[in-house]
Amino acid sequence: MTEATPEPISYLRHWDRTEPFDPPAVLGELVRTRPLARMEYPDGHVGWLATSHELAREVLGSQAFSHRFHTTHAPVTKKGELFPSVPIVPGGFIHMDPPEHTRYRTLLSGEFSARATAAHAPRVAELAAAQLARVREHGSPVDLLPTYVRPLSLRVLCEVLGVPFTGSPVLSALSDSATDDEVGIEAEREAGTRAYHHLLDLVGKARVEPGENVIGRLAADPDLTDREITNMLLIVFAAGFASCEGALASSLLALLHHRDQLDQLRTAARSGGADGIEKMVEELLRYTSVNQFQIFRTALSDVELGGELVRAGETVTVALPAANRDPAKFGCPDGLDLSQDASAHLAFGYGVHACVGQRLARLVLAEGLTALVLGLPELALDVPLQEVPVRLKTPVLSALRLPVRY
Ligand code: HEM
Repeated sequence: MTEATPEPISYLRHWDRTEPFDPPAVLGELVRTRPLARMEYPDGHVGWLATSHELAREVLGSQAFSHRFHTTHAPVTKKGELFPSVPIVPGGFIHMDPPEHTRYRTLLSGEFSARATAAHAPRVAELAAAQLARVREHGSPVDLLPTYVRPLSLRVLCEVLGVPFTGSPVLSALSDSATDDEVGIEAEREAGTRAYHHLLDLVGKARVEPGENVIGRLAADPDLTDREITNMLLIVFAAGFASCEGALASSLLALLHHRDQLDQLRTAARSGGADGIEKMVEELLRYTSVNQFQIFRTALSDVELGGELVRAGETVTVALPAANRDPAKFGCPDGLDLSQDASAHLAFGYGVHACVGQRLARLVLAEGLTALVLGLPELALDVPLQEVPVRLKTPVLSALRLPVRY
C-alpha cells in the first residue's frame, strides 16, 4: 500500500508562533519529519515550506530561485492577508536578482565590510556607555526598550548611514508601522512615503555637501540617481533597524530568562576577551532567529530539491527559525547554550541576499550586551516572562517593552 500524500499545511499554521523563544511547534515537527513540505499560500497557490538547515542553504544559495517580488505568491500583510503586489523600484535591490542586484549590493558591501565595521567599534561602545548612563539616570525599575535597546540601535544606524538622529523618528515610525498589527496597509504606506521624502531630502543635501558616511559616499557617485540612493537607504534602514532592535531585545530577554547563561556571558565579558562574547552572540542569534517569517524565493525553472520536483513559478518559504534548530546541525537545537558553536546559523540568511549589515549587527549586540551585563550586575526581569509583551506573529520578532530592575 502506498502512503497517502500529506495535505499541504496552511500558510497561517507556519505563522502561528505562541512562545517568545520557540518557533511554531509545527516547524519543529516538520524539520524532523518532512523538511520540504507542501504549503498552501494565501492566494491559493500550493508551494513549499523548507525547514531544514540543508534545504534552507540550498534554496537561498541557488540562482535557480528568484527574490523578485512579482514572481512570488507570498506577499502577505503582517496579519497573513494577501498584500497588493509591490513594484520593484530603482535601487530597490532587496527584491532584485543578480546581476541587477549585484550592482547595488556591491556599492554597499564596502560600507559594511569587516574593516569598515571594525572602525565603528569604539563609537558603538561609546554609544552603549552613553545609553547605560541614561538607564542609570532613570533608576530601577526601568523599561530597557525605550531607554537602551531602541536608542542604541537607532543611533548606531543613523551615525553609520549619515542620518541626523533628530530625524530618526520618521524612520523608526516606518519600522513600527510595519510591525504593529493594528496599523493598516494605507497607514503603513504613508509612513513609507514620509520616510522616503525625509531620506530624499538628505540625499539632496549630501549631493551638495557629501559627509564621511554612507549617504555622503553614495551621493558622490554620479552614476546613481537620487531615487536609487533613497531607495537603497530606505531598504538598509528598514531591513536593519527592526532586526537590530528585535535581536538586541530578544537576546536580552533570553538571557534574563536563562539566568545561568546570563552569568556565563557576564563572566566572559569580565575576562575581556572579545572572542568569548562574539561566539556567544552567534548562539543568541541562532536561538532568537528574529527574522522569523517572509523569507521566500520562487523557482525560475524546474528544480530538484530534497528529493522533490519544485516546478518553475512555485514559491518556497524558508523557515529560518526551524533551520536554526535543526537537530542534524546543532548539538543543542532547542535550548540556549552559550558554550555551543552556533556559527553555522542562518539568522542572517544565506547566499547573495545574506544580510549586508551582519557585522554591524554583531557589533551592536556584543557591545550592547557587554555594557549592560557589566554595568548592571543585578539586572533581572521586573515582571514574570509571560507579562513581557512580545509581538509573536510579525516578520521580525519584537518585544514592546522590557521591564527590568537592577
Ligand atoms: C541582528 C540583526 C539583523 C538580523 C537578524 C538580520 C537578518 C537579515 C536577513 C535574514 C536577511 C536576508 C533576507 C532574505 O534573504 O530574504 C537580511 C538582509 C538584509 N539586511 Fe539584515 N539583519 C540584521 C541587521 C541588519 C543591519 C544592522 C543592517 C544594516 C546596517 C541590515 C541590512 C540588511 C539588508 C540591506 C539586507 C538585504 C540584503 C540584500 O538583499 O542583498 N541588517 N538581514
